[in-house]
Amino acid sequence: SLQGYESFMIKEIRESWGAVKDTISGLMEDSANLGKAVKALDKARRILIVAAGTSYHAGLIFATRLLRAGKTVIPIIASEHDTVKSGQDDVVLVISQSGETMDSLLALKDYKAQGSFIISLTNTLGNSISSYSNVSLHTRAGPEIGVAATKTFTSQVGALLLMSSLLLGENLDYLKEAENVVSSSFSKSIGYAEKIGIEISRKQSVYYLSKGIGVPMAMEGALKIKEIAYIHSEAYPAGESKHGPIALVERDFPVIFINTGEHVEELRNNLKEMESRKARAYVISAGVEIKSDTEVKEILVNVSDQRLAPLALAPPLQLIAYYAAKERGTNPDRPRNLAKTVTVR
Ligand code: F6R
Repeated sequence: SLQGYESFMIKEIRESWGAVKDTISGLMEDSANLGKAVKALDKARRILIVAAGTSYHAGLIFATRLLRAGKTVIPIIASEHDTVKSGQDDVVLVISQSGETMDSLLALKDYKAQGSFIISLTNTLGNSISSYSNVSLHTRAGPEIGVAATKTFTSQVGALLLMSSLLLGENLDYLKEAENVVSSSFSKSIGYAEKIGIEISRKQSVYYLSKGIGVPMAMEGALKIKEIAYIHSEAYPAGESKHGPIALVERDFPVIFINTGEHVEELRNNLKEMESRKARAYVISAGVEIKSDTEVKEILVNVSDQRLAPLALAPPLQLIAYYAAKERGTNPDRPRNLAKTVTVR
């Protein structure tokens, strides 16, 4: 039930830090399965990541961390899996909140038939995707009623940070702050997110720009606002915007910069380019500010470790979409044309 909240979406965003905590501790307690998964990923010739929508964006964060460490990783949108053949030495990680997404299930079956080892990360027990997997891991976000994924996404990111850190031999202590980083980001950013959401609710189109591990977060922000506020949005690597997208930017065109605290100098230059075209820029920073010398509004959410930046950026991006939808009077829990679980091809 709504328990006094205006919508499931806001309730579930508020549940996201507890969900991240439960996910990380739950996976650690499931150490036999987690160990099997990490061992398989470590031995893999290539890691294929298969998912759709928001789950794909979580997968891209995992992929970015591993690619930077020199691993061979191929992120694949489930419905496009025909473009990549797998083999016996490959490990496929299927990420799906529901565990029932038809595109992801069909990809899993094809890759399994091609001899690959299958690991899944789902948020329910006894779902189809986990039943076909060699190792099934779970996020512990609890039931998500809002159609747009919020706390399940943040939980996936938490799980994938843990898995990538194990794979890369990193010390896990930084993850103890995961819950705190998400909850304090929520409190700190809610006011600014509401303001951005209200301003953007009157716009036709918005860009989300970032660099590095922030690009999948930009993609997720753009997907959320499209889904629940019906505002056209696109996400780009900031450096790519000058290769075409900037043509649309004119006075008051909204551009949201997502700053993970790395590549700050480059983002500052991209921000200047946008401002010189009189764009309406907003900056959401985790850990390190861009500090533009102009009037642009910037919010800084704290991270105890830069690796937690994607977790810290999730609440403001979800809240922007929530407040834009609210301002437009649309129901954030039941966006038109969308189903919670897409069981058709
Ligand atoms: C976004 C959203 C969808 C799902 C996608 C995959 O808010 O809800 O994009 O993320 O349909 O769903 P799962 O994770 O259940 O496979």
